[in-house]
Amino acid sequence: MQIITIQNEPFDQPIYVTRPILPSLDRITEKLQEIWDSKWLTNNGPQHSLLESKLVNMLNVPYLSLFNNGTIALITACQSLRLAGEVITTPFTFPASPHVLTWNNIKPIFCDIDPVTMNIDANKVESMITPQTSAILGVHVYGTPCNVIKIQEIADKYGLKVIYDAAHAFNVEIDGVGIGNFGDISMMSFHATKLFHTVEGGALMFKDPNLKTRIDFLKNFGIKNEEEVVMPGINGKMNEIQAAIGLVVLNYIEDERNKRKALISKYKECLEYVPGIKLLPENSNCTNSYQYFVIRIEQEIFGCSRNYVHEKFKEYNIFTRKYFYPLCSDYPCYKQLPSASSVNLPVANAISQQVLSLPLYGELSTYEVEKICNILLEIRGK
Ligand SMILES: Cc1ncc(COP(=O)(O)O)c(C=O)c1O
Repeated sequence: MQIITIQNEPFDQPIYVTRPILPSLDRITEKLQEIWDSKWLTNNGPQHSLLESKLVNMLNVPYLSLFNNGTIALITACQSLRLAGEVITTPFTFPASPHVLTWNNIKPIFCDIDPVTMNIDANKVESMITPQTSAILGVHVYGTPCNVIKIQEIADKYGLKVIYDAAHAFNVEIDGVGIGNFGDISMMSFHATKLFHTVEGGALMFKDPNLKTRIDFLKNFGIKNEEEVVMPGINGKMNEIQAAIGLVVLNYIEDERNKRKALISKYKECLEYVPGIKLLPENSNCTNSYQYFVIRIEQEIFGCSRNYVHEKFKEYNIFTRKYFYPLCSDYPCYKQLPSASSVNLPVANAISQQVLSLPLYGELSTYEVEKICNILLEIRGK
């Protein structure tokens, strides 16, 4: 389609990068009444049990355990697999991914990323393994799956565990197989910024039934029964109000997904052939999480930098996100690590200067998406 570059006025209201699904208050109140009637606010109540079983079916996984947030879930995943020493991971992720390793007294080893998927580069993982390596922690960035086959092959060869941070990958399937079936454990985040949310929340997904028992003890202080505390657990429990909100939000997911799908089509129609703009890779074997719409801006070709676009958008009342910038390897707590050196991470360093997450949420209209794209081109022209 042809983009008409007329002078665009700023939006009257701020356009944020995302907006949470907000069910009608009546439906929330109805659900809360059930909790008030039961007088059961937390500790594996009926709302919690129902949400857990619904998600097992929906996400197509053998076992799932709910948590109060994704970060505590990931910390618990490391504990449950008794990881130690070093874990190979990506620098191109949210701070939680390497931080959970540090909270487990594990040293993160940063591996460069694949230039197309922007996930940990499975071809570089093997060269980073040492006698201290206990696991690989991959992140399915923006919902694009890691190279799960190759990563599992390496893990099997060296006897390593595999954990996935699937915070962006709600309902993603590879060839019809739920994303939570890969690796030893996968984590999901149900934070308000995610497509499916419980305000704050998360889950671990896994295949091993023994892990279900262990993880459920670990997230409840290690309490087995009235008289036994069998391991040093934490408080990772999702409460009844979170679970109830999740149950209501589930009813809105399909509609939200369809709306986002239409918006993504509009973005693609407007931006696909713009020189210097790269879109996320498409993979016909996988379902889309419809979680983010991310572009890469190649400054030399596009004509201005990602940082310039990000700042200029604000003048039009549009708030995008440099997601992920800075790299985790550049945080003060990690930058002294040998693996954090930019020489070791050329692809991640280049891509973190290019990525920009554009507004994507069901309430946005296709007209607004068209206007955002027009503004992007107007910014380049200035
Ligand atoms: C990739 C990634 N990992 C981990 C997290 C942390 O999840 P939570 O906010 O539920 O603790 C987030 C999200 O917000 C994330 O985007």
